[in-house]
Amino acid sequence: MQQVRGVIARAKGEPVSIETITIPDPGPGEAVVDIATCGVCHTDLHYREGGINDDFPFLLGHEAAGVVEAVGEGVTEVAPGDFVVLNWRAVCGECRACTRGEPWYCFATRNATQKMTLEDGTELTPALGIGAFADKTLVAAGQCTKVDPAARAAAVGLLGCGVMAGIGAALNTGNVRRGQSVAVIGCGGVGAAAVAGARLAGAAKVIAVDLDPQKLLWATGLGATHTVDSREQDAVEAIRELTDGFGADVVIDAVGRPETWKQAFYARDLAGTVVLVGVPTPDMTVPDLPLIDVFGRGGSLKSSWYGDCLPSRDFPMLVDLYQQGRLDLDAFVTEEITLEEVDAAFEKMQHGGVLRSVVVL
Ligand SMILES: NC(=O)c1ccc[n+]([C@@H]2O[C@H](COP(=O)([O-])OP(=O)(O)OC[C@H]3O[C@@H](n4cnc5c(N)ncnc54)[C@H](O)[C@@H]3O)[C@@H](O)[C@H]2O)c1
Ligand SMILES: [Zn+2]
Ligand SMILES: [Zn+2]
Repeated sequence: MQQVRGVIARAKGEPVSIETITIPDPGPGEAVVDIATCGVCHTDLHYREGGINDDFPFLLGHEAAGVVEAVGEGVTEVAPGDFVVLNWRAVCGECRACTRGEPWYCFATRNATQKMTLEDGTELTPALGIGAFADKTLVAAGQCTKVDPAARAAAVGLLGCGVMAGIGAALNTGNVRRGQSVAVIGCGGVGAAAVAGARLAGAAKVIAVDLDPQKLLWATGLGATHTVDSREQDAVEAIRELTDGFGADVVIDAVGRPETWKQAFYARDLAGTVVLVGVPTPDMTVPDLPLIDVFGRGGSLKSSWYGDCLPSRDFPMLVDLYQQGRLDLDAFVTEEITLEEVDAAFEKMQHGGVLRSVVVL
């Protein structure tokens, strides 16, 4: 085993701290990864705020790239020295979803079996089974997806969560097709990626909605054809106006609040699709809607876990598009920071000004 630094959330709403953590040597099916970079995702903040569950202390961080340092017995998919992006969907191959050929819904995804601990032996809960605001982390080998080592770690590591979730919300869950209209509500890291995904899919109209003008500027750079500042305009009316009065074919809620989901519901064309990719907190409920509207408007109301991605299929493909200049992952990296600056990055995330802060180790 070895000791390294990690960013720990000890109690609900408390500032995080940097502590010494103990990483066991990899056991069967496990790998230790030397982390190069890890993006700050809103889900890390949800963990710190107690919005995911109460299994404190958490080892935060889960949007990471790094190099495999060691693997345990029986690991064949990766070897020491491989450059990998970490994923939180190491599919089991055996559950109901996997056996019916839909592994992106896998109900029994794998994580490391052994626990990382604080110096006093307290077991840590790694965020999304990863815990990568740390010099090194222990994961299931299937959580390591090999990608082109020539790619910039700070950029491609973001595929490990938010950027993949956003792109996949458009490509996989929303099934956006050429010529369609798409609206994205909330254009932080996830929503901006949904905008980029809609562009990749060939959407004709991509409408970005946010309360923060800077986010709208970035979304425009990533492919939004229209923007709506929802502090100044009613989002539903504005999206309808921009789509000949009908609403968009696909509306993606990348905020995850009852009010934004309701906007998505009514800003969508008849028979259109709503994709919920923002993560609500446990206290939130479905907004009050006439059931006749749910019925009468038709279409589908979907949620998107991790953009319904299959890391082994999607990460290398998206890294290729990045390397070819067709997907600007660099645009998501607003700043590179140190482990000490994670709390400050949460502040910035809440008050605008960043798409992604990325910890570089
Ligand atoms: N489904 C998944 O697999 C998955 C993966 C990663 C993150 N997420 C979730 O996606 C959400 C967004 O994550 P992020 O990292 O992009 O967060 P972020 O904080 O970077 O972005 C949120 C954006 O929403 C905007 N916003 C907030 N309230 C709004 C409103 N009422 N109307 C319009 N815009 C509004 C903010 O200005 C900000 O630009 C979070 O809930 C996060 O937990 C989901
Ligand atoms: Zn499975
Ligand atoms: Zn995340």
